[in-house]
Amino acid sequence: MLEIRNLNVILENINKRIYILRNISLTIDGGEILGLVGESGSGKTVLGKTVLGLTAFPIKKLSGDIIFEKTVIDEDNVHKFRGKKISMIFQNPTSCLNPVFTIKNQIIETIRNSNPDINASQAKRIAIELLKKVEIDHPDQRLDSYPHNLSGGMNQRVMIALALATNPEILIADEPTTALDVTVQSSIIDLLKNLNKNYNLSILFITHDLNLIINIADRVAVIYAGEILEIVSKEDLKIKRFKHPYTELLNRCIPTLEEKKDILTTIPGEITNNTEIYENRCIFYDRCPRKLEICKNKKPVFENNYKCFNPLNL
Ligand SMILES: Nc1ncnc2c1ncn2[C@@H]1O[C@H](COP(=O)(O)OP(=O)(O)OP(=O)(O)O)[C@@H](O)[C@H]1O
Ligand SMILES: [Mg+2]
Repeated sequence: MLEIRNLNVILENINKRIYILRNISLTIDGGEILGLVGESGSGKTVLGKTVLGLTAFPIKKLSGDIIFEKTVIDEDNVHKFRGKKISMIFQNPTSCLNPVFTIKNQIIETIRNSNPDINASQAKRIAIELLKKVEIDHPDQRLDSYPHNLSGGMNQRVMIALALATNPEILIADEPTTALDVTVQSSIIDLLKNLNKNYNLSILFITHDLNLIINIADRVAVIYAGEILEIVSKEDLKIKRFKHPYTELLNRCIPTLEEKKDILTTIPGEITNNTEIYENRCIFYDRCPRKLEICKNKKPVFENNYKCFNPLNL
């Protein structure tokens, strides 16, 4: 349904070329939940925003194609897709909603923007339907609330309702639960799963939490410093069989219940800037516990769903 082909995104206007995304190829199938997981700064948000043409200077798309159902999305036609066939939701719902307008105003405005022929009472009916769709109780009463009257979880439901107002086929959900309490997190995840199942909504679920995404996604793409290092299949996800050392490290970083809460396991080292030196070197070389001599002198190609000279679990 959505295909990203050889996408390169760079930081513009500096002497040294820094890739924010390098040679990214991904597909999202109809009705699929694709996870996109990686550390902070790996390029997840930029990827989502690039699909919708939402990036601005100094971030620049250098090359690559974004194809939605056989149509190439470019600068000229992206407005036909953004917030229509493809919607995006972000981490902090409360700051994305307008504090001075009621929920009703914000939903109705979105509905009428996409379809000006709809009159006020029809729009209100659709708004109520949307709130039902995101499993908000007593939707007719909730419509008169302002964002500050609602909890973070409730506001995220409203954001999802707004994203669904145009009947999108794909939802890009960028860390939709990170700002929420754990119990609220799981209710939002259940909602997204229900929307996926009941309405065949495809979802690109962006998160830094491999443990979370394992239970949600059909497949998971692992991104590091702007490169896809592995795409984990459904079968491998279930049994946590990872090929790339980075994915395995992300998996081990998940603190278990027995571990003390104040000790958060992290992967040693820092994420690197993806510059020209990595043209002939594995991007994960500096931090990799399984590196070989070849990894320093040659860039591994992405084959059989991973990009590594010394993979695990073959
Ligand atoms: N406007 C900008 N100007 C300069 N650098 C930017 C800009 N936006 C993003 N970057 C850089 O691009 C890289 C990818 O950023 P991005 O926000 O996509 O990461 P992320 O994976 O979403 O991280 P997080 O988990 O923290 O949200 C980072 O190195 C970031 O510093
Ligand atoms: Mg982000």
